[in-house]
Amino acid sequence: MKDRTTIPTREAAGTASVSPAGSNARKVFVKTYGCQMNVYDSQRMTDSLAEQGYVATETPEEADLVLLNTCHIREKASEKLYSALGRLRKLKDERAADGREMLIGVAGCVAQAEGEEIIRRAPSVDLVIGPQTYHRLPEALTRVGRGEKVVETEYAIEDKFEHLPAPKKERVRSRGVSAFLTVQEGCDKFCTFCVVPYTRGSEISRPVSQIVAEAEKLAAGGVRELTLLGQNVNAWHGEGEDGREWGLGELLFRLAEIPGIARLRYTTSHPRDMDDALIAAHRDLDMLMPYLHLPVQAGSDRILKAMNRRHTAADYLRLVERIRAARPDIALSGDFIVGFPGETAEDFEATMRLVREVDYAQAYSFKYSPRPGTPGADLLDHVDEAVKDERLQRLQALLTGQQQAFQAGMIGRTMDVLLEKPGRLPGQMVGRSPWLLPVIVGENPGEIGDIIDVRIIATGTNSLVAEAVAAESASMALDSINA
Ligand code: 5AD
Ligand code: SF4
Repeated sequence: MKDRTTIPTREAAGTASVSPAGSNARKVFVKTYGCQMNVYDSQRMTDSLAEQGYVATETPEEADLVLLNTCHIREKASEKLYSALGRLRKLKDERAADGREMLIGVAGCVAQAEGEEIIRRAPSVDLVIGPQTYHRLPEALTRVGRGEKVVETEYAIEDKFEHLPAPKKERVRSRGVSAFLTVQEGCDKFCTFCVVPYTRGSEISRPVSQIVAEAEKLAAGGVRELTLLGQNVNAWHGEGEDGREWGLGELLFRLAEIPGIARLRYTTSHPRDMDDALIAAHRDLDMLMPYLHLPVQAGSDRILKAMNRRHTAADYLRLVERIRAARPDIALSGDFIVGFPGETAEDFEATMRLVREVDYAQAYSFKYSPRPGTPGADLLDHVDEAVKDERLQRLQALLTGQQQAFQAGMIGRTMDVLLEKPGRLPGQMVGRSPWLLPVIVGENPGEIGDIIDVRIIATGTNSLVAEAVAAESASMALDSINA
């Protein structure tokens, strides 16, 4: 069974692309698992490898280097790594039999969490590199080239934003008009179920000057929509250009001034860090899109306490009320965990009540999965798997219903859409609505990067179908002339 209520639109698995160099260049295949931060990191690693003469390829079969950028958030996510490594070992052996070498690298959160253990369990792996040490990737590969097995997971806190080179203009262009930008990494919240504070380390904010410089580079490369990333993005803070302490709200206002940037988003947030300035940004900054991912995880105060969320269900509901008062059309999205140790039927009903009360436009829900090293894993009263399944099913049915109602409510509405890529049929384009849903628009509505007005005429599976408003009024005008 799928453990998500929807196929996530922005959480992508796939390859990052690099423009071709010479035909005998070494080829790299990067596979990304997990969250948007990994998507961003994969792009950065691909950029850095391009500087080393690597060209991206779409299949592991033709790659000289296969890099798996892994996720450790739930058990299922890390198991995927070992099954992928099993398949790659066979490929590596076949290649070796042909006298060609294939290197295997493991990056991301499993790399950070398991380190050398990965090479012990999968000896065909040549390189293990954690997210805080990606700037050492070129040097690590040189060592691998000399025949060493390399494990790079140790870092000093100052290393964290010692990042890979900023993307070149042409490379930004090839990526499209909507880009991620990491502003914050790590987490100090220590929710008792979560590995992030261990894999991504303690919370650290990137300085304003670095963020602005990268945003300007992206804008110059044609990017129109920026999504600020952080495991706890709304905990971002730093010294502003005016010498005052800024929070994410102030940062968003600053980024809104960059010519070319038309839309801003951020993800993912903790309810405790939604401060007044950020809520004010939702009220006063039109460029900040009316969509907020605000995980609550559970609706029972007892479970929230056991999870160390440090807020109650009522706190969350009050916060939602304040955000909606500031931006009435905001769409809310959430994350939920069912079957945390000790969760009773009554606790679960409290989650269902909270969901009914909030009414989510989008949500991700998971069965609790004990992660080694987290306090939750040491709790004794684990919930039966069958009970978890049943609860997840009920919760997902409720969330799916809300999501469908939200999408159906879009029919007949006019909205602006940022055109991102060509659609499947000739003349079609795929864009994104302010509420994050992809929108398919027919009849050559404009160029990639244009923001156009459309009217929604139907819903697809997690997408909307629209017609361009200007095109429609033109055709209506023609009709009236012909009549
Ligand atoms: N088990 C199940 N779900 C988890 N998440 C994080 N850790 C776990 C775990 N151990 C979920 C949370 C988080 C999302 C990214 O993944 O809902 O918000
Ligand atoms: Fe994990 Fe909690 Fe930090 Fe989110 S806030 S990354 S769930 S510890």
